[in-house]
Amino acid sequence: MNVSLRVWRQKGHGAHGSFQTYEARDINPDMSFLEMLDVVNEQLILKGEEPIAFDHDCREGICGMCSCVINGEPHGPESKVATCQTYMRAFRDGDTITVEPFRSRAFPVLKDLVVNRSAFDRIIQAGGFVSVATGGAPDGNAIPVSKEIADIAMDAAACIGCGACVAACKNGSAMLFVAAKVSQLNVLPQGKPEKDRRALRMVQAMDAEGFGNCSNTYACEAACPKGISVNFIARMNRDFAVALLKNKPA
Ligand code: FES
Repeated sequence: MNVSLRVWRQKGHGAHGSFQTYEARDINPDMSFLEMLDVVNEQLILKGEEPIAFDHDCREGICGMCSCVINGEPHGPESKVATCQTYMRAFRDGDTITVEPFRSRAFPVLKDLVVNRSAFDRIIQAGGFVSVATGGAPDGNAIPVSKEIADIAMDAAACIGCGACVAACKNGSAMLFVAAKVSQLNVLPQGKPEKDRRALRMVQAMDAEGFGNCSNTYACEAACPKGISVNFIARMNRDFAVALLKNKPA
């Protein structure tokens, strides 16, 4: 198949960017979208031109690195897959495909399709962990966890931190990401001792990074490659409200 690509090219952070058109010829429909970009880049390198910069690592929907908006949709037209799991058979021969980076004030473009998502790392540093006192490691089976709670925690833990929720939201909100990361620990007995502090600090870090508030459009859930439910946002809001009340100065 042959497709035309309109790709966002930007030399660096703060530089002027624009769409450039490239032709991708004789593409195997069973190639992934990133493999198609590899082919285009090989041709650009052979011509002595700068290859298109794009993020990737695992290429199997685990690491959350790939961060392209394809034809206006974070991760492209297919549901519950990352860009690296999007295959060229999802498009038609002769299509023009527009590719651009995730757009958000908190995700500045570093180059072409690569954005800086270190804001997510700082939110995790604010409270997305369970503190472990020094000493012997506790027995993993010493604290019973019910199947129902384990399932909720695992559903939240499926978040790969790709940022598609932010890119899809008209407010650039990171609430689905933060809610998943707060909830995966707050529901478990091991996470309860730091539950209030975690909710307060991670929400405050999210606001400090410049992410917007929830738009209530559920665009985040629709774009999420792991299908994280917006119910986690309601769960986080409850945890945050309770923590705020309990920690209110007298
Ligand atoms: S490259 Fe790892 S999720 Fe896409």
